[in-house]
Amino acid sequence: MQLSWLGHACVLLTGSKKILIDPFIEGGSVIWTSPDIVAVTHGHEDHIGETVVLAKKTVAVTEIAKYLTSKGLAAEGMNIGGTIIVDGVSFTMTPAIHSTGISDGESGSIGGAAAGFVITFDGVKVYHAGDTALFSDMKLIGDLYHPDVALLPIGGRYTMGPAEAMIAANFIGARKVIPIHYNTWKKIEVDPLPFKQAIERTTDIKVSVLQPGETIVIDRDE
Ligand code: NI
Ligand code: MN
Repeated sequence: MQLSWLGHACVLLTGSKKILIDPFIEGGSVIWTSPDIVAVTHGHEDHIGETVVLAKKTVAVTEIAKYLTSKGLAAEGMNIGGTIIVDGVSFTMTPAIHSTGISDGESGSIGGAAAGFVITFDGVKVYHAGDTALFSDMKLIGDLYHPDVALLPIGGRYTMGPAEAMIAANFIGARKVIPIHYNTWKKIEVDPLPFKQAIERTTDIKVSVLQPGETIVIDRDE
């Protein structure tokens, strides 16, 4: 499987299927990606992003799925703790400690709850934490699903910062960690290198600091 970090929380997984998570890039567009399935962690604009414009089959929490259905999309609703298989790709919705809400015109809509995903296909398990604080049940996500890769927010202010994400990485135990949700704006400016060095000095976990648009290959038994 190829994993591309497109920027912010937006990640493209390419293998037998093309899965796009949280289709938002600051100052850009993800329309070119043409994914098979879009996964949305929560309703905030920097995550739901271009979901409606992409108009692909979308996996999201029930309330967002309902909203997307009203916009004409084929949406698969689910909720935290559940697992669904869509076109051979497994989506497990995990908790996230965060707020949510959909901004759509003046009325606005509710967005259910904020979440993360463990996404499994081609024998590779990817955990995208969504926007979240550190929580100790990340240990359960590690014990239950054994993700190969963990995508963790490190930008602070709206999510964990590097210190909390370092503990999260240990809780989850994935052999590779990729920091996301930082340096998009001044308010979440973070140097990812001390985070990488601290984890790699104290554990066997590898931290891949990617540039927006960069792709790496995740092997099933690297
Ligand atoms: Ni958010
Ligand atoms: Mn966010």
